[in-house]
Amino acid sequence: MRRLLVLLAAALVASGCRDPVLEAKADALGPDPGPYEEGPLHRAGFPCNHCHARGGRASPHFDLAGTVYADKDAAEGLEGVTVRLFDSTGRQQSVTTNAVGTFALGEGALELDFPLWVRLELGDEVRSMQSPIFRERSCAACHRNPASPNRHWQVHLRGDP
Ligand code: HEC
Ligand code: HEC
Repeated sequence: MRRLLVLLAAALVASGCRDPVLEAKADALGPDPGPYEEGPLHRAGFPCNHCHARGGRASPHFDLAGTVYADKDAAEGLEGVTVRLFDSTGRQQSVTTNAVGTFALGEGALELDFPLWVRLELGDEVRSMQSPIFRERSCAACHRNPASPNRHWQVHLRGDP
């Protein structure tokens, strides 16, 4: 009996205790469109935390991640944008987008507490999200093209909402 329990526990650890809800969300994203291999440049614009989260299929896990575009129709992300985050105690933290417009704070790297307010900055250009983010860790869970009644356009710095 004890031996069986040990085997069961080992199997659970090996499977990483996948969360079926997260798995379904990840499957719904379809295959990686490329062209980058799995790493900081892959799957720009996708909700990273559908996979990179506890219970998900990929490591590392992210405290917060997203991709920023120049405008709502841009096909490629915008590099060098400062994503500035604020919390209700007035603390702030910033992170910069990489070559494909993606930023990601690894597990433990977020120094602020939810809810978070967010502002994009590039030179003189600034754009803020009016409402706070209460718990969602992927910008693209709410912002992904095409927009729909329950999904906003991809995160963008310029142009009409
Ligand atoms: C549909 C699932 C999925 C999504 C969405 C996804 N990834 Fe990944 N990612 C993976 C898989 C699978 C790997 C391979 C590593 C693993 O299996 O843990 C990986 C690997 C990585 C790695 C390299 C890890 C290493 O050990 O070298 C980074 C960094 C990464 N992804 C970042 C991101 C970012 C940033 C996003 C969002 C813009 C994202 N991923 C979206 C599935 C995903
Ligand atoms: C829970 C859903 C949700 C999440 C998560 C979210 N947003 Fe938003 N975002 C919205 C909604 C809804 C709006 C439009 C209303 C507003 O500004 O509050 C918006 C607006 C914005 C705007 C203003 C321009 C525009 O598109 O209208 C920016 C910039 C923005 N978000 C950036 C981000 C970034 C960066 C992240 C990730 C750190 C993020 N958002 C995460 C829902 C979300």
